[in-house]
Amino acid sequence: MSAKIISGNEVSQQLKDEMKQEVLGLKAQGLEPCLAVILVGEDPASKVYVSNKKKACEYIGIRSLESKLPVDATTEQLLEVIDGYNKDKSVHGILCQLPLPKHIPETEILRSILPEKDVDCFHPYNVGLISIGEVRFLPCTPAGVIELIKRGGFETSGKDVVIIGRSNIVGRPLSNMLDQRDMNATVTMCHTRTKDLKGRSAAADIVIAAIGVPEFVKADMVKEGAVVIDVGINRVDAPDNPKGFKLVGDVAFDEVKEKAAAITPVPGGVGPMTIAMLMKNTLTAAKETMK
Ligand code: GUN
Repeated sequence: MSAKIISGNEVSQQLKDEMKQEVLGLKAQGLEPCLAVILVGEDPASKVYVSNKKKACEYIGIRSLESKLPVDATTEQLLEVIDGYNKDKSVHGILCQLPLPKHIPETEILRSILPEKDVDCFHPYNVGLISIGEVRFLPCTPAGVIELIKRGGFETSGKDVVIIGRSNIVGRPLSNMLDQRDMNATVTMCHTRTKDLKGRSAAADIVIAAIGVPEFVKADMVKEGAVVIDVGINRVDAPDNPKGFKLVGDVAFDEVKEKAAAITPVPGGVGPMTIAMLMKNTLTAAKETMK
C-alpha cells in the first residue's frame, strides 16, 4: 500500500489561515505583531527566503520590516541594526538571515538578539529553555516537523523515533522536544559514527531524516507502516529538467512511500512549515508583550 502523503503546503496554509484570524483579534486589541528581518549581502537563496517571509507576513497581517546591508558591512554595523530593533518596542521578532558573510561572527550576532525577540530560537538561552521543557519559542524547522506529525494524525507518545542528523538547527532541538513530557517519544539520535544506523532506523516507528545527503534513507531502512519525515532539501543534477537540476530530500521517496504509512514530500513538506512556525513565534513574541 502506498503511504499517506503529509502535505506541508496544506498544513502550513491551514496554520496561516488560523493565524490570520488570530491577528484580526490582536489588532482589535491594539496589538500589531511585527517582524524585522535583516539580510546581509546578496545570497540568492537568502533573498528568496526573505521574500517568502515577507509574503507570509503580508498574508497573515503581520507588519514586516526589512534591513538590507551590503556584503562588506562590518560586525559593528550589523550589531547597531540589531540594537535598534532590540530597543524598538513596536518590533516583536528579529531574524538575521543566515548564512552571514564569513567575516561576521555568527555566534556573536545570534547572541546579540534579545531572547524575547529571538523568533528563530537560536539564542543559547532559548535553546536551554527547550532542554528543560520550559518553552518560550520553538525552533521553526523542528516545530514544523512536530506539527506535521500531529496534523498528519500520528501519535508520538511511547513511539520509537530515530533522528538522522545532529545539527544544532534541526536534529538536536528535535530530540530535546520529542522526549519532553508533552511528546513522550523515545528518541535515538543517529549520526555519521552510529553503529548499525540501518538497523536502528528500520526498527523505528518514526524516522526523521535531516542530514543533507540526497536520498540517503532507502526502503530497507524503514519499517513497514513507519512515519517518515524528510527535512532534507538537496539540489541534484537533472539534465532532463529545464533548470538542469531538481530538488530531492534525504529520503528515497519513490521506494520508501511503498512501505511507510506516511511520508512528507520534497518540496512541499517540511519546507513551507518552517515559515509558518516563524510566523507563530512572532505572534507568541507579540502576545508576550501584552502580559
Ligand atoms: N537561513 C536558512 N534557514 C534559515 C532560518 O531558519 N533562519 C535564519 N535566520 N536563517 C536561515
